[in-house]
Amino acid sequence: MHPIIELKNKIVLVTGATGGLGENICLALAAQGAIPVMHYHSNDQKASELLKKIADLGIESICLKADIRVESEVQNMIKEIKAKFGRIDCLVNNAGVLSRGFLAMQSLEGYKDVVDINLFGNFLVLKHVSQLMIGQKSGTIVNMSSAAGMGGLKGQSVYSSTKGALNSLTIVLAKEMADFNVRVNAVAPGFIASGMLEKPTRQDEKHKEVIPLKRFGEASEVSSVVLFLLSGASSYMTGQVLVIDGGLLIA
Ligand SMILES: NC(=O)c1ccc[n+]([C@@H]2O[C@H](COP(=O)([O-])OP(=O)(O)OC[C@H]3O[C@@H](n4cnc5c(N)ncnc54)[C@H](OP(=O)(O)O)[C@@H]3O)[C@@H](O)[C@H]2O)c1
Repeated sequence: MHPIIELKNKIVLVTGATGGLGENICLALAAQGAIPVMHYHSNDQKASELLKKIADLGIESICLKADIRVESEVQNMIKEIKAKFGRIDCLVNNAGVLSRGFLAMQSLEGYKDVVDINLFGNFLVLKHVSQLMIGQKSGTIVNMSSAAGMGGLKGQSVYSSTKGALNSLTIVLAKEMADFNVRVNAVAPGFIASGMLEKPTRQDEKHKEVIPLKRFGEASEVSSVVLFLLSGASSYMTGQVLVIDGGLLIA
């Protein structure tokens, strides 16, 4: 790791920590001496296993359960972190769900379900963490977008549109938070062989032929960019969306 990627003792809220990417990010943070505060929604078993893995790395932390669609649950989570640690230095706004299907076949209810989590839920986390960081006059935020939100993926209209909106939020929030010494960036991974793409469909597999690097990415290849954006190594960057896709979008 680059020497100026100094995250020791930083309090980092990672939402969706029980997912494939979230877990990898938490372990990478702990390996750097940061304290990942692990948010999850339903997977109690994975959360307690992750807490143990983090403890095995010598980091004492906590897991917090919340449905990010419910504002009071998001507020309680942030209150608990403030009570235990006094601050949130960094946020990895990572929780999200994938949805497949052609737009013409989508139900309005199905569309709203995804927007509720990927957009409204992510908005609620951003809103309440931003309020805390405004008070602190410091912080760094990384939103978990997707290459689908940049180029748009056929058969993923709902998902792509929520991630496109998250990119816009990243830029606007970066402008609004700059006065408070808070940087806001996003990463946009392509096909990563983890979490929601742990079991890729035949359609997903076909993308390997067009990805210039001819493979799916590893979770660690996303974590390393997230840690870079959280750290002082990216101190002059804000409002950026960094694509991590093996060249998919330039193919
Ligand atoms: N894997 C990829 O190839 C890829 C590519 C581009 C972008 N991404 C993005 O990366 C992020 C993580 O993806 P992943 O692959 O790690 O997915 P994942 O393994 O399916 O994990 C999703 C996470 O979101 C949480 N979650 C789901 N619904 C929630 C809700 N209502 N409230 C709070 N949390 C909720 C889940 O919690 P529980 O498990 O505890 O229920 C889980 O921790 C997502 O935003 C995704 O869009 C992934």
